[in-house]
Amino acid sequence: MRRGSADVSTRLGPVELRSPIIAAAGTVGSVVDFSGAADFRAYGAAVAKSVSPEPWAGRPAPRLSSVGTGMLNGIGIQNPGIDAWKRDVGPKLCDVPVPVWGSAVGRDAGGFAEVAAGLEEAAVAAVEVNLSCPNLDDGHLFALDAASAAMVVDAVRAATDLPIGAKLSPNAVDIAAIAAAVRDAGADWVVLTNTVWGAGIDVETRRPKLSGVVGGYSGIPLKPIALRCVWEVAQAHPDIPILGCGGVRCGDDVVEYLLAGASAVAVGTAHFAEPRVGKRIVKELERYMAKHGIASLDELVGAAESW
Ligand SMILES: Cc1cc2nc3c(=O)[nH]c(=O)nc-3n(C[C@H](O)[C@H](O)[C@H](O)COP(=O)(O)O)c2cc1C
Repeated sequence: MRRGSADVSTRLGPVELRSPIIAAAGTVGSVVDFSGAADFRAYGAAVAKSVSPEPWAGRPAPRLSSVGTGMLNGIGIQNPGIDAWKRDVGPKLCDVPVPVWGSAVGRDAGGFAEVAAGLEEAAVAAVEVNLSCPNLDDGHLFALDAASAAMVVDAVRAATDLPIGAKLSPNAVDIAAIAAAVRDAGADWVVLTNTVWGAGIDVETRRPKLSGVVGGYSGIPLKPIALRCVWEVAQAHPDIPILGCGGVRCGDDVVEYLLAGASAVAVGTAHFAEPRVGKRIVKELERYMAKHGIASLDELVGAAESW
């Protein structure tokens, strides 16, 4: 996407993006149903809510709560399952003015692979492998263990020829080791990161703010945590393409993630307050580039100065 002198196109592994802004999974519905509210022309891609092999009912209310400047969610990946998704959402993907990426989730590697194959049939442009949802009832998080994460990505790699992004968790003790494991299993990039585990309690009712008590914390307070993950992976493995994600809401946030080593940036929670946030962020990014005489985003990726 070239306007004036600033070129905001970028590349994430094998994928060319007209803009570095990606709509994060679960924050723009199926993409199709959010298309009227957002202006997806400002985005490089938009990721649909995660889909599982069978329908998942999700958790009972309450499952969303604002906590401080962030948001706590315990949706539990409510979704209709891949067959219904292919039937109801798939045919509408071509009406959306942005490449749509699917997001696969499952209880085991075979489940992830089944969904990835279904997403490919529905003609998504890429598959995100959601290894890091913190809301599943058995508490299993593939993204906390290198061998488990690699096993899932390996199965997805065998099931689809589409580009694959592996979405990791800021709860991982050694995020660089997990990133290397999923790269070796065939992921084309890593998404850093999903939400971080969090909880809150209403002091008047004394009840937890989520029915499931522990959920995923996102928004502004996640940014330094996710940025730290980007930094650690970029320093340890400069060859791994990174999609930064966590607390992005303005052009400077994007620049910060790029300087830390990300090649593109996903925006999530900010959509709830401002559905057209992506358009504003791109304008702010262009303004930053013009002010600093930057012609291409390549000049920013991994370009943080050392002390
Ligand atoms: C309500 C809600 C639902 C989400 N659902 C998904 C999901 O289905 N799949 C997924 O990979 N991430 C999901 N996420 C995580 C976001 O994609 C993103 O990684 C996270 O919110 C951090 O970015 P943010 O701080 O910009 O929101 C969800 C986040 C929120 C707030």
